[in-house]
Amino acid sequence: MLCKICKSKGKKEKAVISIRHHKLALCKEHFLEWFKKQTLKTIKQFSMFGKEETIGVAVSGGKDSLSLWQLLTECGFKTVGIHIALGIDKNDYSKKSLELCSRLSERINRPLIVFDMKREIGYTIEEIAKLSGRKDVCSVCGTFKRYLINKIAVNEKMAAVATGHNLDDESAVLLSNTMRWDTGYLARQYPVLEEKEGFAKKVKPFCFFTEKEIVSYAILKEIEFMETGCPNAGSATSPVYKQALAFLEHKMPGTKLRFYREFLKKGRPAFEKETKEEYNLAPCRTCGMPTTAGVCSVCRILEKVRGVNAKSGKN
Ligand code: AMP
Ligand code: FES
Ligand code: ZN
Ligand code: ZN
Repeated sequence: MLCKICKSKGKKEKAVISIRHHKLALCKEHFLEWFKKQTLKTIKQFSMFGKEETIGVAVSGGKDSLSLWQLLTECGFKTVGIHIALGIDKNDYSKKSLELCSRLSERINRPLIVFDMKREIGYTIEEIAKLSGRKDVCSVCGTFKRYLINKIAVNEKMAAVATGHNLDDESAVLLSNTMRWDTGYLARQYPVLEEKEGFAKKVKPFCFFTEKEIVSYAILKEIEFMETGCPNAGSATSPVYKQALAFLEHKMPGTKLRFYREFLKKGRPAFEKETKEEYNLAPCRTCGMPTTAGVCSVCRILEKVRGVNAKSGKN
């Protein structure tokens, strides 16, 4: 297969990727150009951030967030990486993740803020899940990561935090929310979450790219990334929705992108009108971060963890 753009210019260059839903086959040079242009278009369309602002990029060590950090920096944005070191020993998962984030930080010459949970809180994420009596480590992990990334962004006065969420993630979450008709989530799911009372602005510049497109970018840019996912993620429900969408995508190319784009255009505004969110945020009595619950969920989990530990220490 030949690159479509090169062909239109009378040149014969082999394509490195075929993007079925865009009916595009592109060579390395034109794919990288297309990828950059699409990202900048998304940033502009949703007024995510500007060149003069400091942007936090939450990096896990995976292909999505590291590619995002590389690209935003290359485009001239003032980026700072944020990595939460979770302390997962299995397969050296956390050690390797941090190593890959640090390596990219050196390569692109941008600072990396590392929050080490064991050092700063005293417990790894698995210890927190176990001591608080929660079986689903990844769900506790999600709560802590969101909280810590937000806290760092607020403290560092960052204009926004960008995450590597892609089209596969977003369409799977959308399908799951739709299956449950969770109108609250459907009203909120969006590539941008505006800043408010103690919450930093959150943005997802890669939300229209498939995993395949991002992994191609990472490989072509020679970015080293974690190839295995979280070792605790066995029972997550999202793979089921991802598999269902992969089947539909295979039968009808473009399904995922259409599903998500049309939702943003037509679905979400309808839910937004229906759901008048009324919640009163106030500073958490323990940590001061905003919450609707008096004491925030992270502090409640930590109270339990520390309580359990104090008791077992006495015995
Ligand atoms: P996940 O929920 O693991 O698919 O991650 C979604 C996004 O959250 C990633 O693309 C990153 O931007 C961010 N993220 C995940 N894990 C971490 C971490 N340990 N530290 C910082 N950011 C993370
Ligand atoms: Fe963090 Fe699974 S333990 S995502
Ligand atoms: Zn080309
Ligand atoms: Zn709190």
